[in-house]
Amino acid sequence: MALINEAAELYESEGTPQWRCIYAGTPESRERLADYMMAKMLDSRLGKLVPTKLIAKRVTDIPAHLIVVAESGADQRQSDENYAAACSIMQTLQLLAWERGLGALWDTEPFVQSESFLARIGVRQGERFVGILHMGYFDKAPKGRKRTPAEQKWTVLLGSGVLPGIPSDAAALSERSILETLNGAVWAPNDGLREPWRFIFVTGGESGGNVRASLPGSAKAHLLVVAKEESDPHKREEVYAAVCCLIQNFELLAKSKPWGVRRTRPEWIYDPQQCRHYGVEPGERIAAVLELGGEKAHPPAKLAVPRVIRFELLITCRFSRRRN
Ligand SMILES: Cc1cc2nc3c(=O)[nH]c(=O)nc-3n(C[C@H](O)[C@H](O)[C@H](O)COP(=O)(O)O)c2cc1C
Repeated sequence: MALINEAAELYESEGTPQWRCIYAGTPESRERLADYMMAKMLDSRLGKLVPTKLIAKRVTDIPAHLIVVAESGADQRQSDENYAAACSIMQTLQLLAWERGLGALWDTEPFVQSESFLARIGVRQGERFVGILHMGYFDKAPKGRKRTPAEQKWTVLLGSGVLPGIPSDAAALSERSILETLNGAVWAPNDGLREPWRFIFVTGGESGGNVRASLPGSAKAHLLVVAKEESDPHKREEVYAAVCCLIQNFELLAKSKPWGVRRTRPEWIYDPQQCRHYGVEPGERIAAVLELGGEKAHPPAKLAVPRVIRFELLITCRFSRRRN
């Protein structure tokens, strides 16, 4: 729990994101979770192909399972706000865990997304499933797979790379510094190594004036983080989650840089017509607009209730807050 609180503290937001965790860490709760997972797997084609008993044992053997859910919200923007917060906190949690020698696997397999499975583990109506983090100590760390350099996913819009108001040398350094930070951020987890992101850097003296006019804040430059828009709803969620992890990595890495970063989600990013002005193609969406080099970053997110209330132990009825 200390790790989750630490991860939540490191999430910066203007709003009050709504998300919670369901924790299965006792032997009984792990067994129960394994039963629910196996029941779903046996129903599926996968159940006929894999040794379910072995998998059940693996699930029970893993010391901790953290199920993360976000509130759906009144509209898409609010829903994204909550979902992005939950994903970002999960990513920070993975990094903090790694520092302590703990490994984590983010699980969103289709069979853990079925309505009946989610209802059994305590996900309520109006909640959006984000993922299960299976956590434990590992013997051997897996090798990370190579990422595509950010430079290959980089577009500068209507600018020469010169940030307004500062000498060109410093501006060039900033662009380099931003790319360098992005090259750390692209190590975000992303299922199937889809790397479903690209970056539009909006900057630049006189010629950039029109574009920058409609962007918010007093930032010296903006980075539009563009996500691929998958047609399959399951993949679409995974892609958005991966992009949120990348943005969180970027914010964490930027803490040691001389420039500030502020994550924003303005209304216009939900209007495809307006997004097109910035070169966003059909089949893509803007996940966030990052203000760079502007005022100080947001304070840590306000949390509506004491964080501990977000936990619900998924254990036998005697200890359970809710009957599942
Ligand atoms: C939203 C999301 C969903 C994921 N779902 C799964 C999954 O269902 N099964 C799985 O084995 N890994 C899943 N992963 C884990 C990624 O596959 C894993 O982090 C990444 O591919 C690790 O590769 P790397 O070591 O090169 O970073 C998911 C990751 C994210 C961010």
